[in-house]
Amino acid sequence: MAEPVGVTAAAAATETSEPTSVFLRACRGLPVERTPVWLLRQAGRYQPEYRALRERHSMLELVRTPELAAQVTLQPIESFGFDAAIVFSDILPPLVGMGLDLDFVTGDGPRIGNAISSPRDVDLLGTPPAEETMSATLEAIGIVRRELGARDVPVIGFAGAPFTLASYAIEGGTSKDFTKTKAFMLSEPAAWKRLLGKLVTVQADYLLAQARAGASALQVFDSWAGRALGREDYLRYVAPANRELFSKIAAAGVPVVNFSLGVSAYLEDAAACGGDVVGLDWQLPLDEAWARVGLERPVQGNLDPASLLAPWRELRFRIDAVLDRAAGRPGHVFNVGHGLVPQTPTDNVRRLVEHVHERTFTQQGEVPVGPTAR
Ligand code: CP3
Repeated sequence: MAEPVGVTAAAAATETSEPTSVFLRACRGLPVERTPVWLLRQAGRYQPEYRALRERHSMLELVRTPELAAQVTLQPIESFGFDAAIVFSDILPPLVGMGLDLDFVTGDGPRIGNAISSPRDVDLLGTPPAEETMSATLEAIGIVRRELGARDVPVIGFAGAPFTLASYAIEGGTSKDFTKTKAFMLSEPAAWKRLLGKLVTVQADYLLAQARAGASALQVFDSWAGRALGREDYLRYVAPANRELFSKIAAAGVPVVNFSLGVSAYLEDAAACGGDVVGLDWQLPLDEAWARVGLERPVQGNLDPASLLAPWRELRFRIDAVLDRAAGRPGHVFNVGHGLVPQTPTDNVRRLVEHVHERTFTQQGEVPVGPTAR
């Protein structure tokens, strides 16, 4: 295996034995002095600093300039004191190295100019190494690690899961009904398998490279399989690829979060694909979802991000409801169950982090209580 870049072998070894950061400890199910908190899309348009940078640079410029990507990654850490930093990028840039033309169109989301429509298109996709195609993000991880210095704030690397990426590659953008993706999957099962195989190769390589570059945890986002497919199709057309991806990246030796959105109908099956920590969306009460994946398995979640649009009194009640359902058990990382929206008030983010820290710090050792009465 290649030497880790931007992190000493000694630091990497410490991480795999007994981590000190609350986030990595919770990811291993170890006791913590307070519940760690970070939020999906913690770097983004709800922040004035991010909007200011976006006036001068496109989304892809930010992603492809290591210093800027590092700056955006660190902004929410400085402003709110999150317990983990997620490197600023997106799940889609790795598709560019495979031969797909990606653009982020303001107000319209991601667009792929040359979407896949035939088995031949699949065969033309390349699988170049991440060191060649995603070097800016790998470099950004190193810069963030250096900037954080002695602070015990781990960096999370991430990638999209095969189905979610295939849906963008085939639809050419975000879809409501996944018609083209499902038509391709059902009409061209052999090409579908080759497509997912190539995506597994590229994403596994990319995730392993992020860990070598200094990421202390990895998260896989499967945003759309649960929206698009029933259980039987998930098990047949998606789960084998996800299992392969999780089994390949286990070699990184860092905790892996499996975040599959909208899979309440088959949460156990999605969780069984792999990963150390199960990322829970906001649809089920935390305790119910946790019991379904097994209480011995660490979980991350699961406040509805729309809660941050509510007045503080209501937001606090909803944060407390999630914490009550976690009941002070080890192995809980507080997060939202999907990304923050651009309308999120920064004050609510600040108060959320403070409240989770304060409330769980005093909660340690106390007898778990039931849901808070209103
Ligand atoms: O969480 C973080 O702070 C790290 C950065 C991050 C982004 N996207 C930044 C981003 C992460 C982890 C993602 C993941 C991502 N991207 C997912 C999986 C999670 C999920 O939300 O389900 C998906 C499906 C995407 C695809 C994507 N990227 C869409 C659909 C859009 C357009 C919609 C939107 O919110 O603008 C993006 C753009 C995007 N990715 C932005 C950011 C900050 C907005 C870019 C901008 O206009 O400045």
